[in-house]
Amino acid sequence: MSRFGYFVGLALFILSAVHAEDPYLYFTWNVSYGTISPLGVPQQVILINGEFPGPNINSTSNNNVVLNLFNNLDEPFLMTWNGIQQRKNSWQDGVPGTNCPILPGHNFTYHFQVKDQIGSFFYFPSIGMQRSAGGFGGLRINSRLLIPVPFDPPAADYTVLIGDWYTKSHTTLARFLDRGRSIGRPAGILINGKAGKDSHGNDEEPLFFMEAGLTYRYRICNVGIKTSLNYRVQGHEMKLVEMDGSHTQQNTYESLDIHAGQCFSVLITADQEPGDYYMVATPRFTKYSLTGTGIIRYNNSNKPPSPVLPDAPVGWAWSFNQWRSFHWNLTASAARPNPQGSYHYGSINITRTIKLVNSVGVIDGKRRYALNGVSHTDPETPLKLSEYFGIADKEFTYDVVKDEPPPADSPIKIQPSVIKATFRTYIEIILENPERSIQSYHLSGFSFFPLGMGAGKWTPESRKKYNLLDTVSRHAIQVYPRSWTAIALTFDNAGMWNLRSNLWERQYLGQQLYISVISPARSLRDEYNLPDNAIICGSVVNLPLPPPYTI
Ligand SMILES: *[C@@H]1O[C@H](CO)[C@@H](O)[C@H](O)[C@H]1NC(C)=O
Ligand SMILES: *[C@@H]1O[C@H](CO)[C@@H](O)[C@H](O)[C@H]1NC(C)=O
Ligand SMILES: *[C@@H]1O[C@H](CO)[C@@H](O)[C@H](O)[C@H]1NC(C)=O
Ligand SMILES: *[C@@H]1O[C@H](CO)[C@@H](O)[C@H](O)[C@H]1NC(C)=O
Ligand SMILES: *[C@@H]1O[C@H](CO)[C@@H](O)[C@H](O)[C@H]1NC(C)=O
Ligand SMILES: *[C@@H]1O[C@H](CO)[C@@H](O)[C@H](O)[C@H]1NC(C)=O
Repeated sequence: MSRFGYFVGLALFILSAVHAEDPYLYFTWNVSYGTISPLGVPQQVILINGEFPGPNINSTSNNNVVLNLFNNLDEPFLMTWNGIQQRKNSWQDGVPGTNCPILPGHNFTYHFQVKDQIGSFFYFPSIGMQRSAGGFGGLRINSRLLIPVPFDPPAADYTVLIGDWYTKSHTTLARFLDRGRSIGRPAGILINGKAGKDSHGNDEEPLFFMEAGLTYRYRICNVGIKTSLNYRVQGHEMKLVEMDGSHTQQNTYESLDIHAGQCFSVLITADQEPGDYYMVATPRFTKYSLTGTGIIRYNNSNKPPSPVLPDAPVGWAWSFNQWRSFHWNLTASAARPNPQGSYHYGSINITRTIKLVNSVGVIDGKRRYALNGVSHTDPETPLKLSEYFGIADKEFTYDVVKDEPPPADSPIKIQPSVIKATFRTYIEIILENPERSIQSYHLSGFSFFPLGMGAGKWTPESRKKYNLLDTVSRHAIQVYPRSWTAIALTFDNAGMWNLRSNLWERQYLGQQLYISVISPARSLRDEYNLPDNAIICGSVVNLPLPPPYTI
């Protein structure tokens, strides 16, 4: 009897847990052009509700985000939520392979649930070169009260968006690339939309305030379009606590290399003589130098900042060693992307190894970038829609990219590039960079384990040097010049997911691909149906809806 009663109680509990509605956060966003002069030259930027950078989204795990976005630009628009996993829901990923664009004068309501990725993220426009004009902003996921985070609540929680910046418009940059020219070097480095100095060389107003003795959280994201940046704060150490939604072991650093597309959280204690201090962001792995600054002010103090900026580290070995010092906090109860399986990622058998080598070539006099010899191009009908409506075979060819790269001198082909990955398999991906410049990659839909990095070419022997215990699970990773980075993950999230270079001229010119993960069950437990409000375009416009997924 008591046993029976227990099971009934448990069943009721599970049912109510499933039906309990999680809180909703509603947003209405107006995306428009505006004119500002971050580097002293008036230029057109993309604003969200009149703001540059855009507003912060402050959410808590399990919140439902309902965001109605009105496109008041004169060109198509999509917003992507960088690093937000969109479980079962690549419909919300907001990239050209999954979504039809929101046309000028139209709107689309994004509807997604944030899960246990406790940490720091950002959003940005995914079409063309639009992200070089702004439209980005911070997105944080807080822990529910019942799941403690591994540090005391900070006195305040700040978002610091650092990035390279061009004064040419995004349409000009795109035109350069379309004509086979490079976009060249950036004109400056911005911190939260500001260069730090006005045109007379005077400091701008402080960006952040601290009270002596208190500890603050700074969430630093590199929202730039290509440049790796070193971030540091005069006179203050930073205790690293989180990156890309995973809690780390709390080591202290004088400076951090943050590559395009990555976010780090640090704790900074106001333990110096009260005054103003510079935050500094400077390029890494470039031949030129630029400096972005911003002021942190101790409240009620009027000591100007020292004009002597802390030096940036030199060389890539420093950066590589810093990466090696990052460890996942295995005992922190929050921020574990997939507690069921990947926690013991080192003991999961690899079922497949895909080696992707980036390359650059010239086709018809124009530069293209590729992965394994294929330079991706978006078909007019988003890949995910073609797949859902059952016409993928007419629209593109799967697996034009093979698991091994072609010979180095093979010509580059321009084609839609989609890899099929078997649902729930654990796959190792080797990212090999034979070029002299640094790479930074992002994978949507998952957190992956960066297993290892090394100089030169990857070989099966390289596996001996993998970190199979506590590498920090994340969605963006760098590959050093003439080096490799190995990652692995379980493809347990059905959908169409973008693997791309975070260096946007490379992404724009084809250095990206999609990974299609299909659940054979066609079940709502694995993937959601096409949303009712989905924008339909291209070849599927007049096609009947396929039978919906069922429980
Ligand atoms: C959106 O912004 C544009 C440009 O500022 C403005 O003309 C328009 O009225 C705004 N729309 C809404 C719905 O607020
Ligand atoms: C963000 O949300 C959390 C949890 O709801 C809340 O405690 C915090 O005050 C919010 N922060 C801001 C800046 O709104
Ligand atoms: C556009 O906005 C209206 C409200 O102004 C809303 O009813 C409608 O669902 C939105 N369209 C889409 C496609 O989300
Ligand atoms: C890891 O998280 C635990 C639990 O929150 C915390 O007590 C511990 O200090 C953290 N460890 C490190 C090395 O940061
Ligand atoms: C510190 O100064 C800033 C700017 O004047 C103010 O917004 C903030 O509330 C102050 N903080 C405290 C704790 O007084
Ligand atoms: C992994 O592979 C080894 C060797 O083939 C096998 O003994 C082991 O059972 C496998 N482990 C799992 C979890 O499948």
